[in-house]
Formats: sequence, C-alpha cells, structure tokens
Amino acid sequence: MKIGIIGTGNIGASLARKLLAAGHEVSVANSRGVDGVRQFADEIGAQAVDVRGAVKGADVIVLSIPLPAVQSLPADLFDAVATDAVVVDTGNYYPDLRDPHIPEIDEGSPESLWVARQIGRPVVKAFNNVLAHTLAELGQSEGAPGRLAVAVAGDDLRSKVIVMELVNQTGFDPVDAGTLAESWRQQPSTPAYCCDYDAQAMRKALAAAAPGVAATIRDQMPALFARLGPTPTHADIVAANRAVNVVVAGEQAS
Ligand SMILES: NC(=O)c1ccc[n+]([C@@H]2O[C@H](COP(=O)([O-])OP(=O)(O)OC[C@H]3O[C@@H](n4cnc5c(N)ncnc54)[C@H](OP(=O)(O)O)[C@@H]3O)[C@@H](O)[C@H]2O)c1
Repeated sequence: MKIGIIGTGNIGASLARKLLAAGHEVSVANSRGVDGVRQFADEIGAQAVDVRGAVKGADVIVLSIPLPAVQSLPADLFDAVATDAVVVDTGNYYPDLRDPHIPEIDEGSPESLWVARQIGRPVVKAFNNVLAHTLAELGQSEGAPGRLAVAVAGDDLRSKVIVMELVNQTGFDPVDAGTLAESWRQQPSTPAYCCDYDAQAMRKALAAAAPGVAATIRDQMPALFARLGPTPTHADIVAANRAVNVVVAGEQAS
C-alpha cells in the first residue's frame, strides 16, 4: 500500500521503518518541509515529502504529531484525498504537561473524535497505547507466545481491518477496541494504556475502563513519575502505568 506518515518523531519514525520493512511504499513528512525530512527519509529508504505530499494518492495516512498540532495542518489538506483512504491517529492528549488545554476534550470528547472533527473525516485510533520503546523494540512475529497487543478503534469496518493488519505487520496483536466513541477506553491513564499487555489482557483492560476516571489519574501521573527519578527504565514506566489501574495489574502481577 501507499502510506503517508505525517510526523517522524518517536512513533512516526518507528512506524515508517516497520511499514517499509513490511513492503509498503512509505512517504514521510514532518513540520519542516521536504528538505527538513530528507535526511531521515534517505536514511530509512522512504520518500521525503511535505504534508501535502504525504496525503497525495495515499491508501493510508498516519497522523503522528502532537495532538494540538492537528489544528495547524492546512485546512484543505484532506479535501482531495480519496474518501476510502484510511487515516490513522496515533495521538494522545497531555494537557499542562505537553499540550495546551482543548476545551472539547476537557469536557469529555474522545480525543480521536476531536481529531476527526478537526480534519473533517473519520480516523482510526491506533498505536496510541504503546510506548515508543514498545513499538520500536518489543514487536514479535505473529503467533509468538506473549506477543504484545495494540488497541484499534474506529467506526468503519474496512478501515479498521486495514489498520489491524498494519498493526500485525508491525509486530503486535491488534485488538478491536470498538468505535471511535468508545476510544476513550485506550486513552492515557486508562487500564489499557501503555501497559505492555498481550491481547487477552488488553481486552480485559479495555473492558475495565470506567468513564471519567482517566483524566483524574492522568493528573496524578507527574507526581508518580517524579518518584521514579530522572531516568526511569521502560519496566519502571510500565509498572507505574499498571499500578494506577489495579484491575488488570493485579491479574498480571504473578
Ligand atoms: N512517545 C510515545 O511514547 C507515544 C506513544 C504513543 C503515542 N504517542 C502520541 O503520538 C503522537 C506523536 O508522538 P511522538 O512521541 O512521536 O512525537 P514527537 O517525537 O514529538 O514527534 C512529533 C513529530 O510531529 C511533527 N510535527 C509537529 N507538528 C507538525 C505539523 N504541524 N506538521 C507536520 N508535522 C508536525 C514533528 O516534526 P519535526 O520533526 O519537524 O519537529 C515531529 O516529527 C503524539 O500525539 C503522542 O502523544 C506517543
């Protein structure tokens, strides 16, 4: 497939490498135009483009930029994009910590529904609930025991099936997390968020999420992470994420 990736940071860069390795035709764009992304694109063998180039003729477009940056994409970016092109949103909202407040999300809109409204078309939420280290380093072949899972939420079945196969190709078991309206179940500080769970535990974690709880937990995370010191290990971070939602953490602790 022809895949355009907007954002070449922790997540976008890993996805670009993995989707190239899976045999896709990948173009990459960041905030700095074609020249600004060329070095990275050449290094991995992708095509360097600007954001308009990333969406042009793409079968799949991946948005992997800070959530509020979606608002600074060109307003007409998706106007000429085929209606059956699939848009993947990897974004997470971190008000105060990284992002300015977005009132609609603060008032309860699922983050990816807000993204869909900004760009004027549906998205599939995926790759948001794995840490960058997990995505880059912990993928395994299909069928490997203990293979970790990635939640995929969206409203269009065809789009979701396509994204679930991309998740599989990047080394993870895709877990259907329901509709975009239900995608709050995989947002930051939910039981399913960045806990390195396999598919079975991921399903339990998604089911265990309770409406309205995650934002409160999220606001307590900086203090929790401060206690881990300046250079927490990946295992420390995963343990902290599991600990704030004991429903699943208890089951997997043994
Ligand atoms: N880091 C994680 O562990 C993790 C895990 C899951 C999901 N996520 C989420 O995934 C998204 C990306 O995260 P990340 O950690 O990969 O971010 P990152 O390392 O900060 O990289 C962000 C990328 O977005 C690009 N960008 C910013 N504004 C842009 C614009 N207006 N147009 C085009 N490109 C733009 C940046 O371009 P430049 O290179 O030119 O600056 C950069 O390449 C975020 O929403 C994040 O919350 C992160």
